[in-house]
Amino acid sequence: MSEVASVLYGREDVRRRIEELGRTITGDYQGREPVLISVLKGGSVFLADLFREIRLPLSVEFMSISRYGEAAESMGRVRILKDLDADIGGRDVLIVEDIVDTGLTLSYLISVLASRNPASVEVCALLDKSVRRIAPLELRYRGFDCPDRFVVGFGLDFEERYRNLPDILAVEDLASLVANPDLLLPFLVTDGAGG
Ligand code: IMP
Ligand code: MG
Repeated sequence: MSEVASVLYGREDVRRRIEELGRTITGDYQGREPVLISVLKGGSVFLADLFREIRLPLSVEFMSISRYGEAAESMGRVRILKDLDADIGGRDVLIVEDIVDTGLTLSYLISVLASRNPASVEVCALLDKSVRRIAPLELRYRGFDCPDRFVVGFGLDFEERYRNLPDILAVEDLASLVANPDLLLPFLVTDGAGG
């Protein structure tokens, strides 16, 4: 296997962690009917697995946003390309995100959603690149505290590719991947047994 990337969180580790998160969320939201909000596209893979582990009545909403340039310059301001279908007034909102990096995008999104008067707004992120945080943010739930590496797979992309990788990979050699975007193709066909 090439050394351009390595498995950071294998599919079994991810599955087990999502099961645990689902159990915790199920307990925390007893008697309530949360609305899970997923930000397209990366968060949708995590959402699909997570919400089947939550044993509660719930609904799902999708949003699509685009950033105005680099987050640090635009302070995370985003343009809403596709808004929610439902009114979240009085609802318990749980934002389901693939990864939180600087946190600028998410903190802006939280302020937008909070202005619509939901009963609560919490965040569940699969990966938390906490060392990169700029915007102060409280993640109620997180899967893994992720090292400061470029990661792909399980919804996360490199130039829109590799979202379908079953494992989460850390890219060791980003320059080589930029030069040859096909380098991770072998990881699409591994069986997850470490081979
Ligand atoms: P931020 O928290 O505002 O800096 O932006 C988070 C967004 O950046 C995520 O929703 C991802 O779309 C993207 N992102 C951050 N780190 C990575 C990574 O390592 N791989 C792929 N996308 C990433
Ligand atoms: Mg995202």
